[in-house]
Amino acid sequence: MKVHIVRYTPRTGSRTAQLLEHAVSQLDPAAVTVTDLAARVPPVFDQRTVDAYIQRNYAGQTLDAEAAQGLAPMDRYVEALRAADHVILATPMYNFALPGAVKAWFDAVIQKDRTWTVRDGQYEGWLGDHRALLLYTSGGVYEEAPAGMDQLTPMVRQLFGFMGLSALDVVAAQGTAGAEASVASAMSQARARIDQVLAGWRADAAPPSPVERGLHAEVG
Ligand SMILES: Cc1cc2nc3c(=O)[nH]c(=O)nc-3n(C[C@H](O)[C@H](O)[C@H](O)COP(=O)(O)O)c2cc1C
Repeated sequence: MKVHIVRYTPRTGSRTAQLLEHAVSQLDPAAVTVTDLAARVPPVFDQRTVDAYIQRNYAGQTLDAEAAQGLAPMDRYVEALRAADHVILATPMYNFALPGAVKAWFDAVIQKDRTWTVRDGQYEGWLGDHRALLLYTSGGVYEEAPAGMDQLTPMVRQLFGFMGLSALDVVAAQGTAGAEASVASAMSQARARIDQVLAGWRADAAPPSPVERGLHAEVG
């Protein structure tokens, strides 16, 4: 089970990072790759790179070396994502939504004919065999907030879903701006949910038992 981690946890003492470390401690280090968006903030499209993207991915043109070079950092994100079976995105909520660096990562990886395409007039995501886990923390609590206040979760669902990645689990510790005891409780519940999600991933990745193999043989 290869897991790609995309993290944006810039704050010293980040609670989101604490949840991520809890998840990582249960993974095989040899099967984990990491994109750290706080260590190296992703590029955003400028005139040169968006023109190159459209020329290459929409018009099918071969780029010259300089134009290709401009897209190379974005292409490396795509390669890392596609090489994994699962992805964990760890981020705090900023201004009711994704921090800009995380949106820039999505803008980089949602590439026509690399993570999605159009087939018979329909959009088709290419990462349908992946599963994703979104880990986030927020100062406020949004469970009973009016619709639209939490823009983070719906956006992540939409963006991953567009790439075909609709198997998304969301684990949040909300209310980190609250009293210490309630923060501790939210963090502890989030850790327990992470354990459940990762146990599910491991169960799916495990080789079939002899009984299951027999059943497959009978059916097949
Ligand atoms: C720039 C910035 C913007 C934030 N915006 C929001 C917000 O819109 N809603 C909210 O509930 N919390 C907001 N917060 C609080 C963080 O989401 C919260 O403290 C979170 O737990 C921080 O995660 P970290 O400990 O991993 O840094 C904001 C924090 C920062 C630094």
